[in-house]
Amino acid sequence: MCGIIGYIGRRTDAGFLVIEGLKHLEYRGYDSWGVACKTEKGIEVTKDIGRISGVDAKRFLAPCSLAVAHTRWATHGGVTQENAHPHTCCDGSVVVVHNGIIENYECLRDELKQKGHTFRSTTDSEVVPHLIEEEMKGTKDFAAAVRKACLKFEGRFAVVAMHKDSRMLVAARTGSPLIIGVSKNDGYFIASDTPAFHESTATVQYLDDGEMVVTDGNSIIFSDLVTSLERRKREIEITWGAAQSKKGKYEHFMMKEIMEQKDSIARAVNQDEAAIQTLAEAIRDAQGTFLCGCGTAAKACMAAEYFFSVIAGHHVNFAPASEFKLFHRFLKPESLLIVVSQSGETADVLEAMKVAKSKGSKVLAIVNSEGSTIAREADYTLQINAGPERAVASTKALTGQMAVLMLIAYALLGKLQKGRTRLLETAAAINDMLNPRYIDFIEGIAEKIKADKDLYIIGKSWNFPMALESAIKIQEVSYIHAEGFAGGELKHGPIALIDTGTPCIVLAGNDEVRTDILSNAIELKARGGFIIGVSPVRHDVFDEWIKVPDTDTAQAIVNIIPIQVLAYFLAVKRGKDPDMPRNLAKSVTVK
Ligand code: AGP
Repeated sequence: MCGIIGYIGRRTDAGFLVIEGLKHLEYRGYDSWGVACKTEKGIEVTKDIGRISGVDAKRFLAPCSLAVAHTRWATHGGVTQENAHPHTCCDGSVVVVHNGIIENYECLRDELKQKGHTFRSTTDSEVVPHLIEEEMKGTKDFAAAVRKACLKFEGRFAVVAMHKDSRMLVAARTGSPLIIGVSKNDGYFIASDTPAFHESTATVQYLDDGEMVVTDGNSIIFSDLVTSLERRKREIEITWGAAQSKKGKYEHFMMKEIMEQKDSIARAVNQDEAAIQTLAEAIRDAQGTFLCGCGTAAKACMAAEYFFSVIAGHHVNFAPASEFKLFHRFLKPESLLIVVSQSGETADVLEAMKVAKSKGSKVLAIVNSEGSTIAREADYTLQINAGPERAVASTKALTGQMAVLMLIAYALLGKLQKGRTRLLETAAAINDMLNPRYIDFIEGIAEKIKADKDLYIIGKSWNFPMALESAIKIQEVSYIHAEGFAGGELKHGPIALIDTGTPCIVLAGNDEVRTDILSNAIELKARGGFIIGVSPVRHDVFDEWIKVPDTDTAQAIVNIIPIQVLAYFLAVKRGKDPDMPRNLAKSVTVK
């Protein structure tokens, strides 16, 4: 959950380049930042707490053609300048940036201290440069020293290292992402994600788990970390451009990405029909199909349980990725695991995939990131094609994930075209719904409830997972205590929470469960709740009615969108940054 970028090549403004590139990785962590530039004076390290977005890259225009930079989401060690990356060894000759957690750092640190190493930080990451320095006592080959050091780590790591006497960048990864940007004119980038270098190149090479890469800026060598055997890597052209990763006319990425749902859902639906049919058959033939994800992606999986049940009459099971390994007894070679992930890098999802593969089960990944680790390790992959999602709060990825899962459910029923039509009609209805007047109306509701400390959301059927998702959205950007419940669960405890004026959001459709959820709303109202109805049809119980189109089986996809907008305005009106909420990061690449 940190952002890394390194550059080596013919440009002599490497410090400026990596700082500007790092700003495109801020969504991965924003506690502190740092940069190391190799100039004629040696390696100069600058680091501080605070966000990289506030740093003037022109401070780093001293001639330099080799640099690394890092933006941090603190795991081990507090948010301090000493704990910011890059980290150096005792004599400053080795400089490293790291993403992940080195699980055995304490014993490595103790061993290094006994050998006379002194540590400046309280991080796990600082053992990396000291271990490389120790290995350098036995060899002048910097790359070999990095390899030896990395083989001693346990846990997930992505490491980029430089040495004061070597003109090279050396990197290795296990479990945390690293992608190489290949610029014919400028040289090579090594970064956590492609936005870091997409101003310079769209040509990438992917570093896989257990691999190492060495580049001098003119050429590059990939190798197996353990055997050191060289590996060939093809160059891939990524389709996302720089423009897609900018805010454009919007103040925040979150609102931009909410509004992009006018188009992103239709793109998600535009899948290769033969591929969808094949996946539907794989689900039909599987002996046990499991759905797995984290956070918002997990709510897409929960909604899909209803899609498969209500639309296709097919039984599938959901488990949060962090819990999945407890179900390993049910897995066999004939089982199928469907994982859903926007970033394609979530550690718990990768762990769940490992459990499934250990039992010989097949894995289908539904992702939004080309070339991500999850995409490359799955047996089948479907891209939702939502385009870069930079706000920490996932919005357009969720509706894209649900659209793809619903399409598969219709294919399972043998009615793929009906599903496509339903979803494309829904996309068109969302396009009409997201008009300025509608946005202003929801902003007005946010104004009414922005001071409330608690907020509850209820739903039934596929709107129950959307009630849980609504809670995540509101919690993570506005910091209001929000909780989602199945409407039918209210009387079993949660209704005790309702007081006069407590804001309660009711997610409804115009379907067979409408009567049930409205009677739950009436119970809330009877106890003083301030009822905000999200529904195709008005009802007297609503104090505020947010009208949504009636999209039948796709109602969950529509109903969550006004809540995304509401969460955005609650954050802004409470003075929070909806794009980079406290304590969170966009991609949870550590367990
Ligand atoms: C969503 O708004 C959150 N930022 C978070 O729950 C996220 O959905 C979760 O970490 C999963 O991420 P992924 O889709 O990239 O796997």
